[in-house]
Amino acid sequence: MVQWRQDLSGVRDAITIINRNDDLLASRTKAMTKLTLDNAELTHQIGVKLGSTLPASTVILLFGDLGAGKTTLVKGIGEGLGITDPIVSPTFTLINEYTEARIPLYHLDLYRLEPNEVSALNLETYWEGIEVTPGIVAIEWAERMPYKPDSYINIHLSYTQLLTREITITPFNTILDYSQNGLNELQQK
Ligand SMILES: Nc1ncnc2c1ncn2[C@@H]1O[C@H](COP(=O)(O)OP(=O)(O)O)[C@@H](O)[C@H]1O
Ligand SMILES: [Mg+2]
Repeated sequence: MVQWRQDLSGVRDAITIINRNDDLLASRTKAMTKLTLDNAELTHQIGVKLGSTLPASTVILLFGDLGAGKTTLVKGIGEGLGITDPIVSPTFTLINEYTEARIPLYHLDLYRLEPNEVSALNLETYWEGIEVTPGIVAIEWAERMPYKPDSYINIHLSYTQLLTREITITPFNTILDYSQNGLNELQQK
């Protein structure tokens, strides 16, 4: 009985520590952020900030119509990673791999595929990091995916005007530290 009570107090201490950490994290992170991007360069800059800070094994699922800016953002991610090869749209090649930088970039575009064809690609090899070196996996037209990884970042881009886009970034089962990756600065502009 005494033993049990001691255990319980240990649990209470642990909960206090977890709560304190949660408060700290909550002050630095947001579950979702929405930004208005007045030109393509700003979209590119978001990519640069993500590419220079995100760890290996991050999966970014990109949603948005043709011309919304998905490839523009991934070009920025490539620059942020330090890739000097030109990042080109994988609409026809399906998958472009860039392995020259800090960590690899795997850039996929599922536009031309049906969900059953996507299944056949075994995309999980990219985020399991067993057969391929872990890197950043950026997937355009992610709505074609019949299944998703355990954790990922959703990025939705939409038109507001000719040169303006709205971006919504939502992390799932992962933490995005907006003060560390510099997205806070962009938000204030
Ligand atoms: N704010 C903006 N953000 C991103 N792209 C923009 C923006 N304004 C204009 N554009 C233009 O829209 C196009 C977006 O193309 P792209 O990135 O290939 O889109 P997607 O990959 O979503 O089809 C580019 O020609 C880009 O210059
Ligand atoms: Mg594209």
